[in-house]
Order: sequence, then C-alpha cells, then structure tokens
Amino acid sequence: MLYIGVDLGTSAVKLLLMEGDGTIQKIVSREYPLYFPNPGWSEQNPKDWYEQTMEGLKELLADCDRSRVAGISFGGQMHGLVILDRDDQVIRPAILWNDGRTQEECDYLNNVIGKETLSSYTANIAFAGFTAPKLLWVQKHEPENFSRIEKIMLPKDYLAYRLSGVHCTDVSDASGMLLFDVKNRCWSKEMLDICGVREEQMAKIFESYEVVGTLLPEVAAQLGLSETVKVIAGAGDNAAAAVGTGTVGDGGCNISLGTSGTIFISSEKFGVDKYNALHAFAHADGHYHLMGCMLSAASCNKWWMDEIIGTKDYAAEQAQITKLGENHVFYLPYLMGERSPHNNPNARATFIGMTMDTTRADMTQAVLEGVAFALRDSLEVAKSLGIQIERTKICGGGAKSPLWKKIIANVLNLKVDVIESEEGPGLGGAMLAAVGCGEYASVEEAATKIVRVIDTIEPDGQLAAKYDARYQQFKQIYPTCRPLFDIIS
Ligand code: XUL
Repeated sequence: MLYIGVDLGTSAVKLLLMEGDGTIQKIVSREYPLYFPNPGWSEQNPKDWYEQTMEGLKELLADCDRSRVAGISFGGQMHGLVILDRDDQVIRPAILWNDGRTQEECDYLNNVIGKETLSSYTANIAFAGFTAPKLLWVQKHEPENFSRIEKIMLPKDYLAYRLSGVHCTDVSDASGMLLFDVKNRCWSKEMLDICGVREEQMAKIFESYEVVGTLLPEVAAQLGLSETVKVIAGAGDNAAAAVGTGTVGDGGCNISLGTSGTIFISSEKFGVDKYNALHAFAHADGHYHLMGCMLSAASCNKWWMDEIIGTKDYAAEQAQITKLGENHVFYLPYLMGERSPHNNPNARATFIGMTMDTTRADMTQAVLEGVAFALRDSLEVAKSLGIQIERTKICGGGAKSPLWKKIIANVLNLKVDVIESEEGPGLGGAMLAAVGCGEYASVEEAATKIVRVIDTIEPDGQLAAKYDARYQQFKQIYPTCRPLFDIIS
C-alpha cells in the first residue's frame, strides 16, 4: 500500500509518497507566505496551509495508482495557535512557534504562577513560542476574538480537521502547548483554568500513530481517493523527524537543521530537566523525549546567503571555506530571539571579531559555526543532566551540506550518522500513517525496517579540540551582550 506524509513547515508544505516498505516514491513542495506584522511577530494563514496542501496532494498523486493509498499523516510546525469559531472558521491568523510577542505573558506564567508550578502541571515552563502564553495574549489584546473561540488547534491539526472533520491532536504536539500534562498524556485542568479555557475547546488527544478518522467525502472526491483512506494523528515536526531518522526508543539523538534547529533525545522514561532549559515532551513512539530548540538555524544561513550577500549558490560559498577551527569571527544566531537555552525573545543576531583581513568566507563560516555552537549549548544542558550521547542522526535542509555536517560533528564532538533520506518530518509522517494502517506493529518496528544509515561522520580529535576552545569563547558572548539586547530590542 502507499502512505502520504505531510510536512507542514514554516516556509512550505512538503508532501511525500511512501511505499509500504519505506521506499520514497515522490516528493512535492508548495510554498506559502510568512508574515511579520511587527518586529518579532510571526504569523501565517491556516487557509494557505490547507490550499497548498490540497494542491500539493493533487500533484503528488498525479501519476500513481490512487486505489493503493491507505493512509495520510503529518509532521507539523509546533506550538502555533490556531483558533476556530463556532462555525469552524479561523478567527485570526495563526501565531507561530517563532513569534516573540508574549514576553509579558511568559513573565506572568513563569514568575507569578511560578516555574515550579508550571513544571509540576506540564513538565515545562513558559517560552514565548509556546501556545498558552499566546492564548493569554489574545485574551488581553483581542478580547473579542478570545470570546469567539470554540476550538484551539495546532497547525497540522487544522489540516487533519479539514481532511477528516475531526478536531484532533497528538501527544507530541500537544506537549508544546503548555496546556498538556506530559507525564500523564492528558490536558492539564489547572493550566486550562489559568488560561481561561474549557476542555471542550481543546482537540481530542491521540497517540501519534492512531487513526483519527477517514477522508471526508468531498476531500476524497477532490483528490480522487477512496473515502476509506485513513487519517492518522501525526506528530509535531521534531517528533515526526525523529521517527523519520529512526530516533525512537531509549537514548537516540537527532539534530534537525531546518528553519529552527533542534537537538532531540528520545527516552523510554518520562524525565524533566531540572532547569527546564530543555523541553520535556511526549514522543510519537508512545514514550518521551527531551529537546533543545533554537529558533533560527538553517534560516540564518538562508538569510545570510539570500538577503545579505545575495546568492543562491550556497555550495560555491561553502567551497571557499578552508580553515576549520581557526575562524576569528563569531556569530550569535539569534535572528528571532532565542528559545533554548536562553529563553530570551530580545536576544539578537550578532557578528563579532572581524578585522581588516576578514573575508566573506570567514563570515559565512561564522554563520555555520554559530548555529553549531548554539546547538552545543543545548547538548551541554543534556550532558549536565548525566545524559550520555556519543552519536546523532541529522536531518533537515541544512543537513544537505557536507561541510555543515562536518562542523557539527566536530563542534558537538559527536559521531553524525547520515541516513538515506533527510526528509525527517515527511518520512516520519508517512511512517506513522503506515503504523496506523497496520503495515507495521509499532513505530519502533517501522523505524528498524525502514531507516538505513549510509555514512557516519566521525569527529577529528584535533579539530574537535580547536572547536572546544572556540566554544569556550563563544559561550561568553551571549551573557556579555545580554544587557545590550534589552536596550536595543
Ligand atoms: C520546536 C519548535 C520548532 C518548530 C519548527 O519546539 O518550535 O522546531 O516546530 O517547525
């Protein structure tokens, strides 16, 4: 049978068609706009997601035997607030995961309700991108919109709803709302009270591989598919990416180099980082994970290439980089503020250390290295909890660059396992669909049978030592700049 994985990203939706044995048949992608209505704000129209997904699905299915399609599932950008009225119409544009408008609401949650209390209810504290502070923001700044809310959803769940008619979510994505009791995998009544919402306004919770329903007749007709095609809950994009890279069960690690950058550690047991610097979320395999999330990763390189130096030839720019470990320029990658571990929407991107002989290649190198150093910040938190990590998988657009993978292996001093496909969330979504349709008995079985490591990048002792020394310097830049960020933001 065939399975569809929908990766609902921030710049585009990617759709992937997978054979039951894991072979990827076809991938198509459709872009949609991203709006920054104020500095630090980030919004999208859910209608754009749905329209582009439908157009993409038509293209994806154009020349396949549609009677073989059994299921569809998702990996979606996390945390976005989608609110529907009593007619299931979208009330306002979605407020996305990288939106930084909720500093006041986060301060209220973290300082007045208190971090310990939040952590005891949800296993997490408030970060600006999370969903609960956004609800409080809408309540305060758009009371009329707040009063019309009938359903609160996450981005991929809006797609699942449009395809199946079911208001659903899954445990991994719900974990990022700060409304969810992660340990017990249910809504937190206390958090719903704090945010002034009722449980009926929340979507029904499923495990990521569970069937939520089947295609609505009108959707099936538009796509030329059977009404028996199953819609499977799916996962937040990081959990879906972890499935797609085989990061399931205990002690696996995956780095995603997409618009955001994440380091994802899978675990069979529930556990909370005592500083709450890492997110403690449910995993799509039925277990749990810890995750550090930086808000701008491959997007830093895209910004530097496209907007600043004005080129599309990323490989040609990277070919000029020869002096790894010896760059005198540093870059802080905080173009949208930063989540893990600093939790500071006012943080800003910064270059420091240029001299008259600094070249364009040094600056490009600093951008790639800055992202790697910032990922290491989250790895250091994990290590401080006694978690031992020796190797990681890698996926996302940035993982297409051999140079960036080498920098990451050496800055983090980890073996980087390269897998056959970097299509993390889309492949993970299709795998969850296959599990939901019974092709595999569990997510672990699907991962074991489908995911293949094709190469490993080993860190080089000397280079890793040079990067370690550079990291000790990098670590001092943010605390030094921090008071300035508050002044200039
Ligand atoms: C994770 C996060 C991002 C988005 C990107 O917490 O906010 O990785 O999911 O789509």
